[in-house]
Amino acid sequence: MLIDRVKPLSAILAAAEKKSLHRSLGWFQLMLFGIGCVIGTGIFVLTAAGAQKAGPGLMLAFAIAGAICIVAALCYAEIAAMIPVSGSAYTYTYATMGEFLAWTVGWALILEYAVAASAVSVGWSGYFSGTILSEFFGVNLPPWLAAGPLALGGAPGGLINLPALVIALLVTWLLMIGTRESAVFNAILVAIKVTALTVFIFLTIPQAELANFNPFLPAGVFGGLGSGVGAVGAAATIFFAYVGFDAVSTAAEETKDPQRNVPIGLVGSLLFCTVFYILVAAGAIGTIGGQPIMGPGGVPFPAGSEQLALQCAMPQYAQMLVCSDEALAHVLREIGFSKVGNALGIAAFLALPSVILVLIFAQTRIFFVMSRDGLLPDVLSRVHPKWKTPHIVTAITGVVVAVGAAFFPVGQLADIANAGTLYAFMMVAIAVMLLRKSAPDAKRSFRTPALWFVGPATIAGCIFLFANLPFEAMLVLPVWGVIGLVVYFGYSRSRSHLGKGVVEVVDEIGGEETMVPIDPR
Ligand code: ALA
Repeated sequence: MLIDRVKPLSAILAAAEKKSLHRSLGWFQLMLFGIGCVIGTGIFVLTAAGAQKAGPGLMLAFAIAGAICIVAALCYAEIAAMIPVSGSAYTYTYATMGEFLAWTVGWALILEYAVAASAVSVGWSGYFSGTILSEFFGVNLPPWLAAGPLALGGAPGGLINLPALVIALLVTWLLMIGTRESAVFNAILVAIKVTALTVFIFLTIPQAELANFNPFLPAGVFGGLGSGVGAVGAAATIFFAYVGFDAVSTAAEETKDPQRNVPIGLVGSLLFCTVFYILVAAGAIGTIGGQPIMGPGGVPFPAGSEQLALQCAMPQYAQMLVCSDEALAHVLREIGFSKVGNALGIAAFLALPSVILVLIFAQTRIFFVMSRDGLLPDVLSRVHPKWKTPHIVTAITGVVVAVGAAFFPVGQLADIANAGTLYAFMMVAIAVMLLRKSAPDAKRSFRTPALWFVGPATIAGCIFLFANLPFEAMLVLPVWGVIGLVVYFGYSRSRSHLGKGVVEVVDEIGGEETMVPIDPR
């Protein structure tokens, strides 16, 4: 049962063959696309939580998370170029390990995309409230409207994060009426983000003081499993800053010379972000310091916890990096560049919604494919006659994202998204290795170099980061998994099209679909 109902690779490839997408993308466009999906709340906001977990060791954390993402990206590059159809990790797993495990991946991807979209919405809210409302209009939102009440560890909050709720619903509406991010628009937003971060680096690094990096690892490298602190605890959280690069893999079939360009695009955008992130962290910590606020026993208070919030309310701590909701703008204001800090705040305000858009878009496409496979209700793949979008699934996804954003804190949402993403990355690495064995002669326009090292390294890296997430975030994955099992066995398994003996491969909304009857198992 565990590995039955494997979708025949030949049927998927036959459907992909029919698609004659023009191969027009080069490595530079892929890199822009990757950077556009990746730079967001992770660097603009979670830098504060990362510093609370690791102090200056945050720089090491960015390097660790970046290295694990780069090996995962190499696996993605091979399988995305080989199976260029919608559904990403879910489809790859369906074609290699069968329906049940594919379901678990699809279910985990809800955490990657929907929960990550909630996290980015909350991150945006910090910049909206701090820079746009407060700095420009002199309006301070009452605390009960600026933060949600729920934190898994019991941190105090407000009642509802209204700006986060509104931005999530606004982006959902744009997607429903058919808005897509054009390449030009993406390039403009990438330019805005990269300029903001470059200016940040140039203004902060020259003012950095070596003393601020001492001690470099105030919480050690390993803070202990489930503690979520130390350099690896921070790596598990700021892994979020790299989430989204897998969207590049979906463009593999539109890439010229994919053997060369896909790996350059994927790995290049990640390398670029890794170097940038380390420099930004160095600038932030080197100027205003980034030591954690320590609790009893010399262990940092958990990021996002009630205890930390109480400390941050004290005047002597209020200006610390680890207490800020808009970390990078705050650093610039603290070192005397208030106007530039506000400009950076505007850059985040403008650019983060496009990250939300890409994430919700990806989520709806996964649901769409799962619905066309019969695993989710048909209504989810209904397409609006005028807008030509899967409006129902988009609306449902958007409301769920908005509710998550309204009620949960950013750090916990990011950690939960990371848990789901790490599971999906691990399954992709397994799928690539299985396909090398089961379909050794299938056409691969890109082969992962040293797969028998890179694949296991990806798996080990994902397990390692997962084990260093805070305990509550770790727990969400199995709990979410059990709910998924109930849905699968209660609803999906008996309705699966493949289970009924029909292979249906759907490529894109409104696109052609291929139905291949097979012998029912
Ligand atoms: N990597 C994306 C971000 O940091 C999801 O916002």
